[in-house]
Amino acid sequence: MTEKPVLWLPRRVSDATVERACRDYEVILNDDDTPGTPDEIIAMSAKVDAMMPCHSEHFSADVVSRLDPRLKIVANHSVGVDHCDLQALAAKGIVVTNTPDVLSDATAELAMLLMLGAARHAVRGDRLMRTGAWDSWSPSFMVGKQVTGARLGIVGMGRVGRAFAEKARGFDMDIHYFNRTRLSPDQELGATYHESIESLLPVADFLSLHCPATSDTTNLINAERMAAMRDGAILVNTARGALVDEDALLQAIKSEKLAAAGLDCFKTEPGGNPKFADHENIFMLPHIGSATTKTRDAMGFRALDNLDAFFAGKKPRDLL
Ligand code: DGY
Repeated sequence: MTEKPVLWLPRRVSDATVERACRDYEVILNDDDTPGTPDEIIAMSAKVDAMMPCHSEHFSADVVSRLDPRLKIVANHSVGVDHCDLQALAAKGIVVTNTPDVLSDATAELAMLLMLGAARHAVRGDRLMRTGAWDSWSPSFMVGKQVTGARLGIVGMGRVGRAFAEKARGFDMDIHYFNRTRLSPDQELGATYHESIESLLPVADFLSLHCPATSDTTNLINAERMAAMRDGAILVNTARGALVDEDALLQAIKSEKLAAAGLDCFKTEPGGNPKFADHENIFMLPHIGSATTKTRDAMGFRALDNLDAFFAGKKPRDLL
């Protein structure tokens, strides 16, 4: 009998994933579920053939340069790979995969929740109810912005952007998007294409971000671009915190240039931006876009499919 490859799971993934992993791999678990530190990643690379990290484990160029040659594959349990220096990993001959598709619906659902919650004062309303501070009602009380029929701007029409557009169609939204390349008409489904983000910004009542964090997209939504947005627009971010200049966002909220924001991603994670906490028109969640049971199982299984293919000598489906 051939020996099973050794696999490290630095975070607590779903039970179904662990069960399946244990069938085919010799699995090392991290029972206390703390993020893998650079030192742990480096030390573990000498003991395992494969790792299944999340976006909480950082494979910087420095970490990668110190990895043991035993490590052959990093099968990410995430679609985003901004925590990995892909060039450094490729130079070291380490295979990298991710988990696209399977989390698009869950993330799009969360974008919808953030958009609706930001539009309808969910944070303030929830506080009033919990603290017993709801003491009056009038036709002008907590009046928000209607989503149905409004114009939605989507930045990044990849899998999640398209899943969000599909859900937004259920709200009869007029969908506009910016993407590096225009989608085919069957994927576009009547959405209006913008060749530049500059042309999208002034038309959107709601702007939702769905592009990866790369060196090109750092602070993509900065003070200048916020100024170009519609007065009273609402920004939604379920992609990565790196895309938004948080100081500029705070200013835009304080000045009421933007009416609200719905954020699942922050520059600093975990923790978020403490300066946002005083603003009830910033509806915030702790990076839980893909956090449903169904999706977490699917992410784990997709990462395992990639590992299985690799160890069977085949090309993994999600090879980067
Ligand atoms: C992803 O898969 O990139 C999500 O942000 C969760 O890590």
